[in-house]
Amino acid sequence: MHLVIRKAFRRSASTLVPFLVATGLGGCVDTAPTPKTPREAAEATGRMFGAALNSAYLESDAVYAQLAATELDYVTPEWEMKWEPTETSPGVFNFGPADAVVGFAAQHEMRVKGHTLVWHYSLPTWVAQLATAAELRAAMTSHIQNVVGRYAGRITAWDVVNEPLTDTTPSTLRDTVFHKLLGDTYIDEAFQLAHNADPNALLFLNEANIEANAEKLEATVALVQRLLAANVPIHGVGFEMHVSTEVPPTGASLATALKRFTDLGLLVNLSELDVRVGGVDGDLPTKLKVQGRRYHELVAVCAQNPMCISITTWGVTDAHSWLDDPSMWSWAGQGPHYPLLWNADGTKKPAYDGTLQALLGQ
Ligand code: XIL
Repeated sequence: MHLVIRKAFRRSASTLVPFLVATGLGGCVDTAPTPKTPREAAEATGRMFGAALNSAYLESDAVYAQLAATELDYVTPEWEMKWEPTETSPGVFNFGPADAVVGFAAQHEMRVKGHTLVWHYSLPTWVAQLATAAELRAAMTSHIQNVVGRYAGRITAWDVVNEPLTDTTPSTLRDTVFHKLLGDTYIDEAFQLAHNADPNALLFLNEANIEANAEKLEATVALVQRLLAANVPIHGVGFEMHVSTEVPPTGASLATALKRFTDLGLLVNLSELDVRVGGVDGDLPTKLKVQGRRYHELVAVCAQNPMCISITTWGVTDAHSWLDDPSMWSWAGQGPHYPLLWNADGTKKPAYDGTLQALLGQ
C-alpha cells in the first residue's frame, strides 16, 4: 500500500510519506488482540475513526466527552475553526473554542482535521459583503495564513474548500462571494495558501451528495482533474455522507464514486457521516436495526478502499446532532433523527456494532 500511495503522490511525497509513516497507513493488520473500539479497529488497518466534536458539549456533557476520549482518534471541530467563529471581525481572531477542541485531542492522543477554511456558510457578513477581488484576496490570504499557521504541525488534514458545487447546477461553481470576485481559481488559491501555511497537512476538497448525484460526481471529478493538472496541492476528497436509511446512495454507488478519485491518485474520506431515521416509517427499534445495517454497508466501503483513510461521524451521541436543530436544513420537522452510533445516554446502538464489524472486515 505504501508503494501505491507513494507512486500516486510522488508530487507530494514530502507531504504524504511522513503522514503515512506516522499513521502506519498501509500497515498490515498486526497480531494484536481483537480491536474493541472503532478507534482500535480503524488503527489496525492504518485508518482513523472519529467525530465532529463541539467545544460546548465537551464542556457540558461528560458522557459525550468520555466516549470521544476513549472510542475515537480523529477530531473535526464541528464549528470552532470556521471563518465566523475564528474571525468574526476583520483581523480580530478568536481561537479559544478551537484551542479547546485541539487541546482535548492532544490530551487523548487524537489527530485533528481542520474544518473549514473557505465555505459560503458560517461566513462573517464583512467577508460576504466585500466588493473587490483585491479586498477578498487579502482577506482570504490573511485568514488562511493565521488559522492554518496557528495549528501548523498539529493538524493531519484540512477541509480547505467546502461544498463548492450545488446539487442542482453542479457543472458551474456555487455562486459565492469567492466565485463572484475571484473566479473558478479561488479554489486553487485557497489550496496554495493552506499548503504554504502548513506544508505537512493533507489538503481536502469536501463535498456533499457526490455519491448519489451522477452530475455532481462528474463535475467534482472534472474539478479535481483541473486542480491536479494545474499542480494545485490537493491530496484528497471528502465525502460528507449525510444520508438516511433509504437509498441512494448504495454501498456500490459509494464504492464507484470513491474509486473515481482514488484512481486519480487522491485520498478519500467519509467526512461527516450520519444516517437519519427521522421521516422513515416503522417503530424505532426496527429503524435502528436498519440503520445499523446501513452503517455497516457504508463503513465497509471505506474499509475496503486502501486510499480511504478516515471515517468521521458528524457528532458523537444522539443527544447532539445538527440534524435536530430546528433551524437547520430541509430535514427539520422530520426529526428526531437518531443519526449517530450512541444513544443520548451513551449506550451503544446497532449502528455502533455495524460500524465496528465493518472496520474489522466482518
Ligand atoms: C454544521 C454544524 O453541525 C452546525 O452546528 C453549524 O451551525 C452549521 O454547520 N456540512 C458541513 C458542516 O460541512 O460544517 C455543517 O456543520 C453540516 C453540513
